[in-house]
Amino acid sequence: MENFHFWSPTYFAFGRDSENEVGSLAARFGASRVLIHYGGGSVLRSGLLDRVKDSLRAAGLPYVELGGVQPNPRSGLVYRGIELCRSERVDFILAVGGGSTIDSAKAIAAGAVYDGDFWDFYSGKRIEAALPIGTVLTIAAAGSEGSPDTVITNENGMLKRGASGDAVRPKFSILNPALTETLPPYQSAAGITDIIAHLYERYLTNTREVEVTDRLIEALLLTMVHEGPRVIKDPHNYEARANIMWAGMMAHNKSVGVGRSQDWSSHEIEHELSALYDCAHGAGLAVVMPAVFTYNLHHDVMRFAQVAHRVWGCPMDFANPEATAREGIEALRRFLISIGMPKNLAELGAKEEDIPYLAKTLCYGNGRQGSISGFVTLTESDCERIYRLML
Ligand code: NZQ
Ligand code: ZN
Repeated sequence: MENFHFWSPTYFAFGRDSENEVGSLAARFGASRVLIHYGGGSVLRSGLLDRVKDSLRAAGLPYVELGGVQPNPRSGLVYRGIELCRSERVDFILAVGGGSTIDSAKAIAAGAVYDGDFWDFYSGKRIEAALPIGTVLTIAAAGSEGSPDTVITNENGMLKRGASGDAVRPKFSILNPALTETLPPYQSAAGITDIIAHLYERYLTNTREVEVTDRLIEALLLTMVHEGPRVIKDPHNYEARANIMWAGMMAHNKSVGVGRSQDWSSHEIEHELSALYDCAHGAGLAVVMPAVFTYNLHHDVMRFAQVAHRVWGCPMDFANPEATAREGIEALRRFLISIGMPKNLAELGAKEEDIPYLAKTLCYGNGRQGSISGFVTLTESDCERIYRLML
C-alpha cells in the first residue's frame, strides 16, 4: 500500500425528511446569506425547492437563487453565479440537485473568492480557497456530495474538464433517498453506472497488496449489482435507493481509493463524449467501460479475472484466467444493457467520423502531451482504437 493523506470532513444527514434540516445545518456551518443553486426544474416540480426555502426562512437565513444548471454544467452560468455572489454578498452556497448542480456550485464557490478567471482551476490550478458549500442531493451518481472534485464544460470549445481541492468538499450533504424516487429510469440507470465506474476505476490499480480497499470496492460493487435492478424495477423501493445512495457517496469520497494507484481512463475517454454529444455521463461510461477493459485486459489479466470471480460470480479458470476475465467484462456489459443503458456509440448519438477528433482532444487537450495515463498509458492511436471498439 502507498502512503496517503485522507481528509473527508463532510457532515452527512441521511434519511427521510432530512432536507428539512437544511436551514439549521447551513446556520451551523456559518451561513448568513445563501445562494440556492439548482438545475432545470425537477426541484421545482417535486416541491423540494419550496421545502428548502421554508427551512432557510425558519433558520432566519436570507437567500438569493440561481437555477438553470444543465447536465454537463456550463461555464456561462458559473460566471453569472460568481457575479451574483459578489453583488449580493453571499457567504454560503447551497446546491439542490445532482452532480451537475453541485459541481457548478463548487465552481462558483471557488471563483467567487478568486481574482482571476475561475477556468484557471479547470486548467490545472488546484483549488485552495472557496466559499463554503452545502448540498441537498437528488440523484445517486457523481458522488460530488462527498468529493473534492468538480467537472465543468467550457462553452468556448465545448471542453469538459475537472478541478479539485479539499476547499470545495461540501461542509454538509443531505441525502434523502426518497428524493431520488422521481428520477426517470434512464437517469437512475446512468447514476448506477457512474457509481460502478467510480469503483472500477479504483479497482484497476498497479499497486500490490491493497486487500482492504479491494474488498471494500468489491462489497460496493456487489451492492450495486444487487440493488440496481431493484430500483429499475420499482422506482419507489426506498431501501434499495438508500443502499445505492450511500454506496454512491462511499464510491467517490476517496475512502476506497486510498493507498493505491487508480485508473480514470474510462472517465477521461467518456468526458470527450459527453462534451461533444451532451449525453448523460453514466450512459457514456456504459459504452466506454467494456471497450477500455477489453483493450487493457492483457496489462493485468488476473486483476480482471479477480473482479470477474468475486463480483460477477464467474468460475475462476486458473488454466485460462483470460477466459474468466473476458466473462467478467461480458457480465458487466450485459448488466448495463439490462438496466437500460446504451451499448454502442450510435445509441449515444456519437458518430464514427468524429473518432479522430475525440482521440486528439482527449490526448492533447488540457495540457496533455499525446497520451492519457492510468492503469495503462494510452496514446492517441490507442484511444482511437478504443473508440472504434464502441461502434
Ligand atoms: O436539472 P434537473 O431538472 O434537476 O434534472 C436533472 C438532470 O436532467 C435530473 N434529476 C436530478 N435529480 C432528479 C432529476 N429528475 C427527477 N427527479 C430527481 N430527483 O437528472 C438529470 C441529470 O442530473 P445531473 O446533475 O447532470 O446528474 P449527475 O449527478 O449524474 O451529474 C453528472 C455530472 O457530474 C459529473 C459528470 O461529468 C456530469 O457532468 N461528474 C462529477 C464528479 C464529481 N464532481 O466528483 C465525478 C463524476 O465522475 C462525474 O464526472
Ligand atoms: Zn463519474
